[in-house]
Amino acid sequence: MTAPARLPGGRPAVDYSQAPLITIWETTRACDLACIHCRASAQTLPDPAQLTQEDGYRLLDAVRRFGRSLFVMTGGDPLKRPDIADLFAYAMDRGLVTALSPSGTPLLTRDRLEPMVRAGLRTVSISVDGSTAAIHDAFRGVPGSFGWSTAGIRVAKELGLEVQINTTVSRYNLDDLSAVADLATRVGASRWSVFFLVPTGRGQASDMVSAPEGERVLNWLYDLSRTAPFHVKTTEAQHYRRVAIEREAAEQGISPAEVLERSRTAGGRFAPGVNSGNGFLFISHRGDILPSGFLPLSAGNVKEDDLVRVYREDPVFKRLRDPSQLHGRCATCPYRVVCGGSRSRAYATTGDYLAEDPACPFEPRAGGAALAA
Ligand SMILES: C[S@@+](CC[C@H](N)C(=O)[O-])C[C@H]1O[C@@H](n2cnc3c(N)ncnc32)[C@H](O)[C@@H]1O
Repeated sequence: MTAPARLPGGRPAVDYSQAPLITIWETTRACDLACIHCRASAQTLPDPAQLTQEDGYRLLDAVRRFGRSLFVMTGGDPLKRPDIADLFAYAMDRGLVTALSPSGTPLLTRDRLEPMVRAGLRTVSISVDGSTAAIHDAFRGVPGSFGWSTAGIRVAKELGLEVQINTTVSRYNLDDLSAVADLATRVGASRWSVFFLVPTGRGQASDMVSAPEGERVLNWLYDLSRTAPFHVKTTEAQHYRRVAIEREAAEQGISPAEVLERSRTAGGRFAPGVNSGNGFLFISHRGDILPSGFLPLSAGNVKEDDLVRVYREDPVFKRLRDPSQLHGRCATCPYRVVCGGSRSRAYATTGDYLAEDPACPFEPRAGGAALAA
């Protein structure tokens, strides 16, 4: 197997019908935090049915069959697994470009990270949901967690790691986002991944920001991305792509179609975006094969099923990759190929994973053609 070719813009040229760009493994649901929004409804103790170390090695071999994809070990808290450094080293050994997504707890120490840094760890993502202990700790359910997250960021930076900060937007921190961006600048974050709440697990629909509030946040993020010393991305706000394309079109006095045309020749910045089951694959702590951790529709289990075959051939995965299957406003939206909406939020709010994303306020004209990505 060879490394995937790169497009001129640096993105790996991956055919999402054949392989995910990114695979995430929820190594455990154990976690010492009690976040009010946790998609995994994580608990302190591990599920006795979570994948064993041997199962984990077999899973990593299976993921490797896709090629050298990006791989993330998440949780729960991966540091709750005593064997995480061994699993990490095995993944690196297999050629998977592997990042770690630990929780901000007292387990996030130099001693725990160092063996993984020696094995090739380059990037960690650490959650900061507010610029103050009061906001962050209330969200994370445990006093002291803001201090543990910021201490973890410091240690990671001292070890030479790139730090991605994850922030979940909700009604609790809507007015604090610009202070979190300042914090990300101060601590030297490389990337800010702004998650939009999905009402799954412990996440509550009443805690989501409204569609117009979300639209304001996305426009603000677009402005920020022009000057921030870190890269800005969104998670479960696929419609950020529409906002960015429209803003770029307005700035340059060209049409959204021309923005996409220029993006194609420059390396595909607005190429079809990664979405659940479409360039994205999630393996649960028990080995269930899911299109996303926010979309709990199991298509099989790695202990019994062929991971590569499930990703390529499962009917739900195939429908998720087919924009003509979308319903509601997403079905007629010109951005349905580049965006596609949050399939997770559609499912969580309506039970239909192909329904329109209620977080997006865009009203497309009926019968409009899809913009080519
Ligand atoms: C699943 S956590 C795993 C890593 C670690 N436990 C943590 O809290 O950072 C990864 C990211 O997903 C976010 N997240 C969890 N539940 C969510 C939900 N229901 N909607 C949106 N984001 C969520 C978290 O806030 C965190 O930034």
